Amino acid sequence: MLKESGESVVLKSCSSAELSSTIKILNSLGTVFLQLRLLVCIKDTISFFSLKKSSRYTVNLSLEALHCAAKEAMAKAIAPYSHFHVGAALKSKSGIIYSGHNIEVSSYSLTICAERVALFKALSEGEREFESVVITASSGEFCPPCGACRQVLMDFAPSLIVYLADKNGQFKSYSIAELLPESFSQKNLDHLSLHDCAKTSRQARQRKSTRRKN
Ligand code: THU
Repeated sequence: MLKESGESVVLKSCSSAELSSTIKILNSLGTVFLQLRLLVCIKDTISFFSLKKSSRYTVNLSLEALHCAAKEAMAKAIAPYSHFHVGAALKSKSGIIYSGHNIEVSSYSLTICAERVALFKALSEGEREFESVVITASSGEFCPPCGACRQVLMDFAPSLIVYLADKNGQFKSYSIAELLPESFSQKNLDHLSLHDCAKTSRQARQRKSTRRKN
């Protein structure tokens, strides 16, 4: 799959999973590849792209590669009720792509969105820091994340950049803070000291016993 060719390394017929593991290997080797340039992306498969050599020690995983992973995930969506297919690809700080699609359940409210599937997959692999996510939907229009996903993304990836991709390959980008201003977070729970908690439950117990007596 990996072939040296003059100034660049060429990867052919590579899935996003293979791409992720290759990037991981290149990063861990501390190699001198800077720019990842996606040349052709056909039918959700990364078929050809090149890594150009440079003097920097990081791999810049392109937005197109994330977009491809999101489209690949969208193709696997389980959406028999809405027929609305969504794919998300989340890039961790370590450079790995985690993708997800929506999964619908006959009891509709148990459905889970693509963004949360991608995030939970990453968290369960031990990832804790995230850079960006690309979201794409079968409507072909920009698909902004729902409120629940915004909250979950904010909790676990407060500096996330959210890219929405449409059918023409155009992107809109937002910070998660822009998408969820004045958000609730763990810091809002901090003021509740153990003392306060004990006091609150004592008061609740007292109210209950007063009600019982009356
Ligand atoms: N959906 C997502 O996966 N992500 C979003 O951000 C919006 C909505 C899914 C949930 C459901 O399966 C379908 O799209 C229609 O709401």
